[in-house]
Amino acid sequence: MKRVLITGATSGIGKALVDIYTKKNFEVVAAGRDPIKLANLKQDYPKIKTLSFDITQLQQALDAASEVNNIDQLILNAGNCEYMESVNPFDSALFERVIRTNLLSVGYCLEAFLPKLARFGQIGIVSSSVTYLAFTQSQAYGASKAGLNYLARSLSVDLASQEIGVSLIQPGFVETPLTDKNTFDMPSKVTAEYAAKTIFNGIQAKKHSIKFPRFFISILRLLSTLPFALWRKIATSLVNK
Ligand SMILES: NC(=O)c1ccc[n+]([C@@H]2O[C@H](COP(=O)([O-])OP(=O)(O)OC[C@H]3O[C@@H](n4cnc5c(N)ncnc54)[C@H](OP(=O)(O)O)[C@@H]3O)[C@@H](O)[C@H]2O)c1
Repeated sequence: MKRVLITGATSGIGKALVDIYTKKNFEVVAAGRDPIKLANLKQDYPKIKTLSFDITQLQQALDAASEVNNIDQLILNAGNCEYMESVNPFDSALFERVIRTNLLSVGYCLEAFLPKLARFGQIGIVSSSVTYLAFTQSQAYGASKAGLNYLARSLSVDLASQEIGVSLIQPGFVETPLTDKNTFDMPSKVTAEYAAKTIFNGIQAKKHSIKFPRFFISILRLLSTLPFALWRKIATSLVNK
């Protein structure tokens, strides 16, 4: 039986991944920071193993890793989104918080769990489609996810000799508690179940890149080819609406 470890398994995309991986007969190690949410998850999926740790704390990640071995698939999904209310004055505390939760934490989890990954294993790193374009108030979230894009690509190069693959995952808008907080329009929003199924299939196929939904990503890609001066005008006009 293959084993998967999923961070951020207590909510949204991570929880939907637990559901699909369980149905596909994987041994699921579900990681989260809230013991009550993990206990509730275990009630719904009695066969899973749960791991409770805060991804922003290296020692907690290392301690958690001592409880698992032989992981075939490692999905680093946990993260948070905080938008910047203003950039002048610049809220460096928020910036640090988001970079720590979304980017540094992945480094901690890699230090902890990479030695546990089996040969021919696959890592999934959940970034975002936000990195295609510069959006208002997204300085911290976008920078954290752009960092993940580079990390995933560069990791993939160096892990090739160990037969370990890396899938860079860039979702568009997904209906989860994270996006429930948003007050703006979210075009082409998909369900967490759709996201999990797409990620699952992509990881089994060892895809380097998993992006969805397709039409939304195509539009972002097209817009990203515009000269920045033109995109800046469009983005600024959206801010002033
Ligand atoms: N939803 C979208 O539209 C969307 C789009 C692109 C990318 N993403 C990315 O997809 C990933 C999952 O997002 P989601 O929408 O499913 O969000 P979510 O429903 O808020 O779930 C986030 C998960 O991460 C966990 N987490 C957050 N901080 C943590 C920490 N310090 N230590 C341990 N666990 C922590 C949360 O635990 P708690 O339940 O304890 O808070 C929760 O399980 C994130 O990386 C997000 O940036 C989401």
